[in-house]
Amino acid sequence: MKPTDTRYQIMNVYIPEAYFQGGSVNGFTKDTAPIFFPNNVGGYMPGEAGQPETDSPGSGKPNAIAVALSQGYVVASAGARGRTEANGRAPAAIVDLKAAVRYLKANDAQMAGNAGKIISNGTSAGGALSALLGTSGNAPEYAPYLRALGAANATDDVFAVSAYCPITNLEHADAAYEWQFNGVNDYEKIDIAMLDYHVQRKTVRGTQTAEQIRLSDGLKKLFPAYVNSLKLKNAQGVLMTLDKNGNGSFKAQIESMLAQSAQKALGEGKDLSGQTWLTIENGKVKAADFSAYAQFVGRQKTAPAFDGVDLSTGENNLFGDAQTQAKHFTAFSAQNSTISGAQTADAATVRIMNAMNFIKQGGTQHYRIRAGENDRDTSLAVSQLLALNLQAHGKNVDYALPWGVGHSGDYDLDELFAWMQSVAV
Ligand code: DHB
Repeated sequence: MKPTDTRYQIMNVYIPEAYFQGGSVNGFTKDTAPIFFPNNVGGYMPGEAGQPETDSPGSGKPNAIAVALSQGYVVASAGARGRTEANGRAPAAIVDLKAAVRYLKANDAQMAGNAGKIISNGTSAGGALSALLGTSGNAPEYAPYLRALGAANATDDVFAVSAYCPITNLEHADAAYEWQFNGVNDYEKIDIAMLDYHVQRKTVRGTQTAEQIRLSDGLKKLFPAYVNSLKLKNAQGVLMTLDKNGNGSFKAQIESMLAQSAQKALGEGKDLSGQTWLTIENGKVKAADFSAYAQFVGRQKTAPAFDGVDLSTGENNLFGDAQTQAKHFTAFSAQNSTISGAQTADAATVRIMNAMNFIKQGGTQHYRIRAGENDRDTSLAVSQLLALNLQAHGKNVDYALPWGVGHSGDYDLDELFAWMQSVAV
């Protein structure tokens, strides 16, 4: 009822044409069709409501919305405010997506599609928001924001979540990044900017300064205590731990996920002979060495990767507010800040942007999480911990690191829709 920016606080709804004639598609009818709920958020910048495309830029293939319609899904794609606008800083984006979910629930009887079967999808920052929609369904922390927005009086939990390379757990993402990349000092940075409503990326090469190396060393040391505090077990019941040097069962877990990814690639006939971090014997991946892997794929961000000591990152901007362009959001970067008078975001705001903080019994049961084997935008530890934490709470989690894939999403729509079908029917 009270939008502040109608460029983004809008939702596109698409309905398969057959439903207007009482028909069915793929076994669904206008009343039973699940609602595919993709967001377009990238870089925590504003995301526009999505549209079907039959040859989407880059791939030349139908986008996820077009595929969803062809398979009988109702599609509701909401826009969301983002960090580059004064009123779009945290938690605006998640509040906007929740308001859209509430609208679908409040109007379920009047609209096509089953709002009890909303399946969220997003990539990167959008993947983080998708995961957060799943874990934080109906959490009271968002109520004041939703009230201020004039959101419908309805629930805001979703049925299932697809998240590609979620840039989540920002409180711990700097430590996770240095746990992975400490000792790798050459970097290939990607500067993200917004041009004509589209996210643009530009590569900048360099080597970490002595000060950045010092920050990396400090951050790396923080990570084991965090992992150990979660007390997570993998599917084999092994407790996930790291020693003070960052070695242990949690590292072995990621190595085993990387080895699985490589094994699948070998099975598909890919040539992995140049992958010096893998030990391959007679067509079998015997070992994956995480430290050698980090060297091989290379560092993308300088330390700290997310909470910049000079307040220059997108995440600093995300945690600004209407008056303040950018803030710190971790104690470590606040202590090492190079900006005099720098502020730190309040802990409650930081907390409600992180899917890890809401995992509990109940809420969304089904999660499909993908991080590209080549993705250096955040540590592989971030998605791995999310997957393990969800599993520990009895959720149905499908997690993999697809081979040769970088920081991207929607690249495996056949598999995504097969998964959606398997959970929604
Ligand atoms: C995205 C990428 C990043 O590296 C990041 O820090 C935040 C968001 C993105 O692509 O959405």
